[in-house]
Amino acid sequence: MSKLNAAITGIHAYVPDYILTNQELSTMVDTNDEWIQTRTGIKERHILKGEGKGTSILGTQAVLGLLKKTNTKPEDIDLIITATVTPDMLFPATSNIIAHETGCINAFAFDMNAACSGFLFAVQTGRVYIESGLYKKVIVVGADKMSSIVDYTDRKNCVLFGDAGGAILMEPTTEDFGIMDADLHTDGSGKDYLYQKAGGSAYPPTIETVTNRQHFIYQEGQSVFKFAVSRMADVSADMMTKHNIQPEELAWLVPHQANLRIIDATARRMGIKKEQVMINIEKYGNTTDATIPLCLHDWESQLKKGDKIILAAFGGGFTWGSIYLKWAYDGDQVEKI
Ligand code: UT7
Repeated sequence: MSKLNAAITGIHAYVPDYILTNQELSTMVDTNDEWIQTRTGIKERHILKGEGKGTSILGTQAVLGLLKKTNTKPEDIDLIITATVTPDMLFPATSNIIAHETGCINAFAFDMNAACSGFLFAVQTGRVYIESGLYKKVIVVGADKMSSIVDYTDRKNCVLFGDAGGAILMEPTTEDFGIMDADLHTDGSGKDYLYQKAGGSAYPPTIETVTNRQHFIYQEGQSVFKFAVSRMADVSADMMTKHNIQPEELAWLVPHQANLRIIDATARRMGIKKEQVMINIEKYGNTTDATIPLCLHDWESQLKKGDKIILAAFGGGFTWGSIYLKWAYDGDQVEKI
């Protein structure tokens, strides 16, 4: 039997309507549009408003659109993996809720947490289920309601993050398309630089954890920045060398959108032009697990069968990695919804 590859056969993404601009943020904390744009590249971000609305809403909308665009029956989905750091609840898994809301009644579903690299880790997991021949239709979701863990009195962090969800369908093919290689890493010494301290088993919620604002994101920005620049650039450049991909042969770099300066440094290290890089951080900010599928969604109509693409991410943990894939369909043939 010929080898099965895991191809991405569809993509969809969803952002909530409310747009939080740099201007509005400057009325909430001591910041300004010039600082935010110069240091991060962000102009605005989308926020999911409304009591009781969690990440599953973002993931559900993305999956419903994906099923429609790919003309897939929900009952044919075998597995849903959701990468998120902001699950609706600690349990049940947000993936379970998404499976229920989208009618994927025959799927088993679970969440993965690898911070901002979670989508890549989940794609690699979905890949091996497909390549093994065990399952034929796997959905990978990347979704985060970052506004639920952002401290809107902390100017260092509140300007960075936004809410979004994205989803891809993965299916087997015997053709030379799909995920070709993945190079994923973790380094637990990074745990001290980027975290949400309370709410888990080490520091369950108490009046003190709430008063001390420990349910919000803590980040030592400069330390994370240094690691992110070197690790994301190295792992992406190494992937090109390993597969003998010349800079002009690469159709797209799809980087995690945390900071425009990190993206630029990665592109420089790979020797590619800015036109080869998907960048939409100005519209959405850092949506953690959703940044990469959101880029693929925004650029879908420009993607061509056979395009060589590298996905790259860096996140809390630390976690980082790159995935090399060959795109499996012509995006301009997909019906827009
Ligand atoms: O996605 C997961 C991985 N995360 C990342 O990759 C993020 C990596 N880190 C970064 O992107 C950057 O470190 C930040 C964007 C978070 C911060 O940029 P920076 O250039 O490292 O700024 P900084 O933290 O060194 O702060 C420089 C100055 C400080 O003032 P002083 O001490 O020099 O007077 C800050 O207090 O900018 C000040 N500052 C602000 N000023 C206006 C910090 N935040 C703001 C703000 N508005 N929002």
